[in-house]
Amino acid sequence: MTLKSRIIGCGLYVPERVLTNEDLEGMVDTSDEWITTRTGIKERRIVSGERAVELATGAARMALKEAGLKPKDVELVVVGTVTPDNIFPSTACLVQAELGMKSGIPAFDVAAACSGFLYALDVADRYIKTGAVKTALVIGVDVFSRIIDWKDRATCVLFGDGAGAVVLRQTRGKSGILSSHIHSDGRYWEMLYTPGALNESPFEKKSPHKPFLKMKGNETFRMAVKTMGEAIKEAMKKNRLSPKNIALVIPHQANIRIINAIKDRLGMDTARVFSNIERYGNTSSASIPIALYEALHSGRIKRGDVILLVAFGGGFTWGATVLRW
Ligand code: COA
Repeated sequence: MTLKSRIIGCGLYVPERVLTNEDLEGMVDTSDEWITTRTGIKERRIVSGERAVELATGAARMALKEAGLKPKDVELVVVGTVTPDNIFPSTACLVQAELGMKSGIPAFDVAAACSGFLYALDVADRYIKTGAVKTALVIGVDVFSRIIDWKDRATCVLFGDGAGAVVLRQTRGKSGILSSHIHSDGRYWEMLYTPGALNESPFEKKSPHKPFLKMKGNETFRMAVKTMGEAIKEAMKKNRLSPKNIALVIPHQANIRIINAIKDRLGMDTARVFSNIERYGNTSSASIPIALYEALHSGRIKRGDVILLVAFGGGFTWGATVLRW
C-alpha cells in the first residue's frame, strides 16, 4: 500500500470576545436582519490583544493532545495564514519556539487567504507521501479583525478571528487523505485583497492606500460558487465518487448562501453539508479546521466516512481535499 497521511488529532482556538450582529448595529449602518439573511452570520469571535501565534499554539496544543503526541514528535510545521503577527519570522517558526519543538525541523507559512488551510494541508501531505517526514502539524490561523475597516459595513460584518489545527501522521492503511487539489488564478487579485501595511521609504511617493481588506462582493460570491463547484467535481472524479458516497462536505465558511448553492449543485441534504458560520463568521484559513473539529466532536464523522473539504479565497485561490476518516 502507498504512503498516505492521516489526521490523528484536531484542535481549535477562538478568542473569548464575542461580537454579535447587535453589537455591529451600534458601529455601522446595518441590522441583524440584513446580516442574517444575506450571510447566515449571527456572531463572530474577535481578538482583544491576543496575537495570531497565541491562537495558533492554542489550537496546536489541543490537536497534539488529541493525537497523543508531544511537540518534540513534530517533524514539520506548515501554517496557512495571511495575517501573521510579523512580516517575518513566520507564524510557524513562532509556534515551533512557543511549543518547544525540535530545532532544525522545517517550519513555514503558506499564504492563500481563505484557502490557506487546504494549501498547507496539501504541502504537508506531499511531504508525508514522499516519505520526507512522518508527523506534521498543520495550522490555519487568521486575525482579520486587524485588516478590516470597521467603518465599512460591506466587509466588517463578514469576518471573525480564530485558529484550527490538525496533526498528520504517515500511514499505509485505508484511512487518510485520498487526494488534494489546489488552484489559483492571480488575474482576479483585485476582487479580494488587502494593500500592504509597510512603511514608506524616503525614496517612494506616499501610498494612498490604507491596509484594509477590499472586496468586490458580488463577483467574489459568483467565483466562489463556480470554483468550489469545479474543485468538488475534480475531487469526486479523481476518487470515482458521487455525492451519495460522501458522508460530509466541510466547505469554507464564507456565506451560508454560498454553502447552500454548493449543496444544491451537489443535490445533498443539509445534514451532509457542515456549517457553523452562524457562530464564527468567516475565519479565513481557520474556517475549515475549526469546522472539522466541531464536526468530529459532535459525532458527524465516523471511522471509514469519506469527507470532502472545499475552500475558496483571495488570489483567487481554491481547492478541495478528499479523505477517508
Ligand atoms: N448592512 C446593511 N446593508 C448592507 C450591508 C450591511 N452590512 N452591506 C451592504 N449593504 C447594502 C449595500 O450597500 C446595498 O445597498 P444598495 O442596494 O442600496 O446599494 C445592498 O445592501 C445590497 O448589496 P449587495 O452587495 O448587492 O448585497 P449581496 O446580497 O450581494 O451581499 C455580500 C453582499 C458581501 C454578503 C455577498 O456579496 C457575499 O457574501 N460575497 C462574497 C463574500 C465572501 O465570501 N468573501 C470572502 C471569500 S473567501
